[in-house]
Amino acid sequence: MPRSRDKYSSGQILLHWLTLAVLIVSWVSHDAVEAAFEQVAATGPFTAQGLVHRIAGVAVLALTLVRVGLRMRHGAPPEPKMPGWMLLVAQASHFALYALLLMIPILGLIAWVGAIESAAELHETLFWMLAITVAVHIGAALYHQFIRHDGLLRRMMPAPRAR
Ligand code: HEM
Ligand code: HEM
Repeated sequence: MPRSRDKYSSGQILLHWLTLAVLIVSWVSHDAVEAAFEQVAATGPFTAQGLVHRIAGVAVLALTLVRVGLRMRHGAPPEPKMPGWMLLVAQASHFALYALLLMIPILGLIAWVGAIESAAELHETLFWMLAITVAVHIGAALYHQFIRHDGLLRRMMPAPRAR
């Protein structure tokens, strides 16, 4: 898939924003799955309760697997000029985001299928780590946009590049 040199590929951009949308669905639907999880040992994993959360969660896993594949294939556009430490924090936090997006749904699946409480607890803890990392990530995007004015946000925006 072609990409202009200063932007992520269109597939990477689509998956980035689709993941945000599906994450919101999995957050909004977590009450039902929590209620279902209390009884999963009795009902078995095939009950419909909490299905939206589980489907959204598995979708996050699938999207992230494709995304990691695209990242390995297309890489990232060269970063705008910034201090070395900032680049390091950005790269570490992007890596952490990918890792959490893979680990959270896998732990959710393990918790659900095996009715395993400890996996559910780790699922929840990692979710809060994701929430914090995403908050920092959004803060960084805003900082680049409004304080550094380096056009970083445009790299992840679908609008075609003006020629
Ligand atoms: C990235 C995707 C996912 C996100 C962001 C997510 C997020 C959450 C959140 C925020 C909670 C509530 C935690 C709490 O406050 O107690 C939760 C609970 C739960 N999730 Fe997920 N989840 C995801 C994927 C999945 C998947 C794929 C499954 C299973 C197929 C799953 C199964 C569960 C279960 C069983 C609970 C209840 C755990 C409990 O009550 O202790 N989740 N999830
Ligand atoms: C309003 C919300 C968000 C904004 C404004 C935003 C903005 C951005 C921007 C501008 C980039 C490009 C950074 C660069 O060029 O180095 C980026 C990359 C990235 N974003 Fe977001 N993002 C948001 C939400 C999220 C969420 C919810 C996640 C995941 C949970 C996420 C995960 C990532 C990852 C993993 C990358 C690195 C892409 C790569 O290099 O492969 N973002 N984001």
